[in-house]
Amino acid sequence: MPTLTNKRILLGITGGIAAYKCAELSRLFTRAGAEVRVVMTRAAQEFVTPLTMQALTGNRVHMELLDFEAEAAMGHIELARWADLVLVAPASADFLARAAHGRADDLLSTLMLATAAPIAVAPAMNQGMWSDPGTQQNLAEVRRRGYHVFGPAEGDQACGDFGPGRMVEPAGLFASCAELFAGEPLAGRHLLLTGGPTREAIDPVRFLSNHSSGKMAHALAAEGVAAGARVTLISGPVALPAPDRVTRIDVVSAKEMLAATMQRIADADVFIGVAAVADYRPANTTPEKIKKDDESMNIELVRNPDIISAVARLDPRPLVVGFAAETGNVAANGREKLERKKLDLLFANHAAETFNSEEVAATAISADGEFEIPRARKEAVARKMLKLIADRLPATENSS
Ligand code: CTP
Repeated sequence: MPTLTNKRILLGITGGIAAYKCAELSRLFTRAGAEVRVVMTRAAQEFVTPLTMQALTGNRVHMELLDFEAEAAMGHIELARWADLVLVAPASADFLARAAHGRADDLLSTLMLATAAPIAVAPAMNQGMWSDPGTQQNLAEVRRRGYHVFGPAEGDQACGDFGPGRMVEPAGLFASCAELFAGEPLAGRHLLLTGGPTREAIDPVRFLSNHSSGKMAHALAAEGVAAGARVTLISGPVALPAPDRVTRIDVVSAKEMLAATMQRIADADVFIGVAAVADYRPANTTPEKIKKDDESMNIELVRNPDIISAVARLDPRPLVVGFAAETGNVAANGREKLERKKLDLLFANHAAETFNSEEVAATAISADGEFEIPRARKEAVARKMLKLIADRLPATENSS
């Protein structure tokens, strides 16, 4: 079954007997990992109750355009922006007519104008109404605007007629919607990343750490979601909010980062080690704050585990991608790290230009050669990096 992990589907239900099938349709969406919000026209509420749809989706159903309370919770523009896909099922003849004219006199029609997301409609009506030139003209108009039209199917109708006008069955609509996302480079993949610095405690108030901001890992995580992946980010202490739709696990030390990684690696398709993991930690952490008495003090350090190397040793293992922030000989040091750590791909760059910066350039290094990613905002660079990563993944049923 295709996954719709992280996808936000706005299901618009208009008045038609097929509305009852939306109960099953929304279950198919949520079972595949999507979040569903339902907008119902007044006529739709005669066929299926808002309570049913609320119980099935876990979200309050949206019904009125001018409802003060509903607007305060999630306004119509917010709802339009929220959606990754708007599906109107069933789409009645009247709804198609209003959509074709760009009307905005109820919540659903207003959303259709406001959203930037793709829109799909699943027409359902009596076969005579379907064949009517008015409906066909409206249909041609919504197609011209780029709406996807799923169906209708042909067969026995609730009114006793036979012909075209039945809503496509929920399984068919689900498959057509999943198809719209299937082209995303990381559709159906689990992307696991580490990011930020680690902190290695010396005593309860002091630690060893580094300047990593976590921006690159957060940019990769956000762009991973946009590329269709389910994303888990294991992050050291950073001052950034978790990106939307990313599961962030907050850790402090390298040992914690290793444990959190190993707990979640089994179903990862890609592991990206972006974290600036402290190579050493104090051999002993004192439970009490260290008091100064001597002119100098020594802290004995011991090696931390190498997280990415531990992942690369797993069998089976995900695609393993590393980073190297170097102060000189960037490409040569990067290649040495790629080989020593047995990575599939490594992004190398200058430490001074990377840490705490909004922009970055990188050299992608793999066994096949090198590729320069020019300096740009971390988000844009992250998109290019993920494209290179996606190209190296073995094809799956879901990604082909
Ligand atoms: N890395 C890791 N665990 C460590 C150290 C590094 O997973 N304990 C990962 C980083 O996330 C990065 C890659 O290894 O993807 C290279 O990190 P870097 O610090 O450059 O590597 P080191 O092995 O520490 O090399 P150096 O001797 O240059 O410090």
